Amino acid sequence: MATMDTTPSDAIAPIDDAVARAQALALWSQGVPVAVPTETVYGLAADATNGLAVARIFDIKQRPAFNPLICHVSSIAMAEAFAEFDPMALALADQFWPGPLTLILPLKKHHSIHPLVTAGLDTVGVRMPDGHVRGLIETFGKPLAAPSANRSGGISPTTARAVVDSLGAAVSLVLDGGACPVGLESTIVKTDGNDAWLLRPGGVPADAIEKLLGRMLRHETAEGAVQAPGQLQSHYAPIARVRLNVAQVLEGEALLAFGPARAAHSDRAVACANLSETGDMQQAAANLYAMLSQLDRWGAATIAVEPVPSQGLGVAINDRLRRAAAPRSAIVENKAQ
Ligand code: TXA
Ligand code: MG
Repeated sequence: MATMDTTPSDAIAPIDDAVARAQALALWSQGVPVAVPTETVYGLAADATNGLAVARIFDIKQRPAFNPLICHVSSIAMAEAFAEFDPMALALADQFWPGPLTLILPLKKHHSIHPLVTAGLDTVGVRMPDGHVRGLIETFGKPLAAPSANRSGGISPTTARAVVDSLGAAVSLVLDGGACPVGLESTIVKTDGNDAWLLRPGGVPADAIEKLLGRMLRHETAEGAVQAPGQLQSHYAPIARVRLNVAQVLEGEALLAFGPARAAHSDRAVACANLSETGDMQQAAANLYAMLSQLDRWGAATIAVEPVPSQGLGVAINDRLRRAAAPRSAIVENKAQ
């Protein structure tokens, strides 16, 4: 039976400690990535204008360089220095920032974002995170490029400990802000002045965005004309296989449950975690990654997942579960390193 490792890590320091925050700012100035809590998941953050610093993020995560990073800002003014806001994008930023929404915007002609951040695209992903980290960005005075602080393809971390479990000694400092309240990555929306596309469902439900814009969001086309390059089929994957929408549990499986009613033969499960006993979507989102990791540590070959309704945050939860369940040859090799 696998047990939880509770060894303290030297790399973890509380974000409300002024010394730890000063250390993070010093590391950023030296081009060293630092893991930080956001309301969605922990990010591995570095100076978005420093190519070497950004390269270190890709290296630590073993992330393919075609997959661009999100720039995190502390104000709309900071974003306007490098990105073009159309009226729709501005309305979205006004309403949902700080918060779990990333806007894909055209880069301005003259800007200081390193091309590695955008993987050479002429657009840039921008978001204003909530909480302590926003103050840190303001003090640093420059945008921070930050992907989720996990090995590429793995489960996103929602605690400081999960960052260390995924990245190990490769990360010098993890600022600990406790468990991330949203627990799912930001919603990604691209606007072009006329239309708005949903590139990734996430912490802001699509219907809230559609309500504000007074129109339906368009979805990625089959031809892939508009897409987020990082939306690989297999992603957010535990080591175990993942079986979705189960009506019954098979011998030896671990069970990721949802709501008050259990799948048949749930007594067969070698381990069980419930995303939300009461069927609360926010609670389920906040628990998703930590519970997938927890069940993975039991070492079962398969995690069986009960159905989660595709409403509100359930759309993003099901998106992540589908990717966790997808075939994953290349990703498994990555995780083994
Ligand atoms: O909540 C979040 O968004 C977290 C926290 C740390 O902020 N970050 C996060 O980053 O999820 P990451 O790197 O795991 O996912 C970023 C996604 C990728 O799918 C990437 O392809 C997409 O954003 N993206 C970034 N820039 C883009 C661009 N210019 N055009 C299209 N997609 C872009
Ligand atoms: Mg990620």
